[in-house]
Amino acid sequence: MLGAIPHTTDDRVLVDFRTADDAGVYAWESGPALVQTVDFFTPVVDDPYTYGRIAAANAMSDVYAMGGRPLTALAIAALPAADGPGADVIRQIFLGGHDALREAGVALLGGHTVSDQEIKFGYAITGAIDPSRILTNSGARAGDVLVLTKPLGTGIIATAMKFDRAPQEAAAAAIRSMTSLNRGAAEAMAKLPAGAVHACTDITGFGLAGHASEMAAGSGVTLVFEAAALPILEGAEALAGANLPGGGRTNQAHFGGAISAAPGLNRERMLLAYDPQTSGGLLISVQPSHLEALRAHLRDEGSGDHVVGRVEGPSPGVLVRLT
Ligand code: CO
Ligand code: CO
Ligand code: CO
Repeated sequence: MLGAIPHTTDDRVLVDFRTADDAGVYAWESGPALVQTVDFFTPVVDDPYTYGRIAAANAMSDVYAMGGRPLTALAIAALPAADGPGADVIRQIFLGGHDALREAGVALLGGHTVSDQEIKFGYAITGAIDPSRILTNSGARAGDVLVLTKPLGTGIIATAMKFDRAPQEAAAAAIRSMTSLNRGAAEAMAKLPAGAVHACTDITGFGLAGHASEMAAGSGVTLVFEAAALPILEGAEALAGANLPGGGRTNQAHFGGAISAAPGLNRERMLLAYDPQTSGGLLISVQPSHLEALRAHLRDEGSGDHVVGRVEGPSPGVLVRLT
């Protein structure tokens, strides 16, 4: 959407929307640079407190994906004026967000509320980042190994939850995943020497296939995933066929042209690759010599350490291959 806006050149802007990254970096003075991002959305779960937690975890995620430390937050809320949720529900949303921010050590400075027909909630986040260690979509190199830190399937399970079709365990697993911060994964990457991680993004609305396509395009490479190695939330595979959210079909239409799937590939896995994620994990492109150290740090931080594929050189017309 921002593509239509003329860009002005400013040497202090180190990363912006032109590389399809979800956070921007601004070198305001010498030393750490500012990293900024914003995210808000309609409720993904019924429980208001959980919705607030997820919105905060999701908003901070783009800062973690870039290798930054979130510091401050501004809340953004759209609330129906008439026939809307009661004061207690609204309070629970803000409380859930507050608790996730507090877990991350992020200070809530303020925010802004407007009235709208449908509830929307989220945050603008500002953090600090070492300008020599910014991780973007555009650094993946042929030979890298791809690591994913959270399982897929939150969109499918959330859709099933809306229609009361999700088993209790599946719903609980999806909520655990969506409320957990990508902070540990960011800290694991920070423990590696500079240059060990070549690229990183978080998996959100475009799904694994879409965000991987952006990384492949930004880096001039092909991302190759082992479908059987993709971590999947409990219950999501069985729900996939009947519960792919509308965003999953949009992702398929938008990114499918540059995605090649091995003949006979399991259909549910394919749907899961397109499933839009809320507060999904980090996709990390790491130099193979640092893979085992990264995985050990991820496990120490309580984060997933799933090896899901590798990076190959460019292939004409194909950004992502599922084998
Ligand atoms: Co993102
Ligand atoms: Co975002
Ligand atoms: Co205001």
